[in-house]
Amino acid sequence: MVIVEDTQLEQLRAAGVVVRDAMAAMAAACEPGVTTRQLDDVGRGVCEAAGARSAPQLTYDFPGFSCISVNEEAVHGIPGARRIEGGDLVKIDVTAELDGYMADACITVPVPPVSPQAQRIVDVARRALDLAIARVRADKLINRVGKAIETEVHRNGMRVLRELGGHGIGTTIHEPPRVESWFDGRDTTRMVEGMVFTIEPIIAETTEHTVTGADGWTISTSDGSLSAQFEHTVVVTRGRPIILT
Ligand code: CO
Ligand code: CO
Repeated sequence: MVIVEDTQLEQLRAAGVVVRDAMAAMAAACEPGVTTRQLDDVGRGVCEAAGARSAPQLTYDFPGFSCISVNEEAVHGIPGARRIEGGDLVKIDVTAELDGYMADACITVPVPPVSPQAQRIVDVARRALDLAIARVRADKLINRVGKAIETEVHRNGMRVLRELGGHGIGTTIHEPPRVESWFDGRDTTRMVEGMVFTIEPIIAETTEHTVTGADGWTISTSDGSLSAQFEHTVVVTRGRPIILT
């Protein structure tokens, strides 16, 4: 969406706070032995206490409150009986709807002890998101976001999962524009003041491609290599973007 009134920004900010709080509580609970369903319940508790609902559940009938994807799983992992183990990379992706407004964010939690290689992909994904956010500015081409991500990821010898990327958000979960995590030289879309979208580098060690699991939801790296993701929902301004999550 493009924000046209101050009240819309306030409502998006409120949704963003719920997402941030839910993710923080889930990250704190992310320890060896806990199941992904228990983690999901922690996030659900925070959101429901604030009067928020799960956007993927509302929109897509997703069988969980949040998406929890482990190791080679990149996105849309279904919370369930799987127990977290030391060394896991746990992607916690929360999209909450509060009074009709939505915000979406993801963090990767490395559960100690993680290998240096696993820690490195987490660090690269986080840095790629930071660098991409710094490129957000009204009137500039949106493809500079993907360029920043791709450059950082490739510089570290890793790959962007090209089928997955950021998206407009606001009163619906997925809407235009598409915000690729790679440089699309043909994309002439410009960022507009008040435009709301996610930036979400979803990267892998050694592949650019994904496969969908037998459950019909879980999307993993095509070669089984590790994946990491960080995501924020941002609002375009004439200066630095507002980070809602
Ligand atoms: Co997300
Ligand atoms: Co998203």
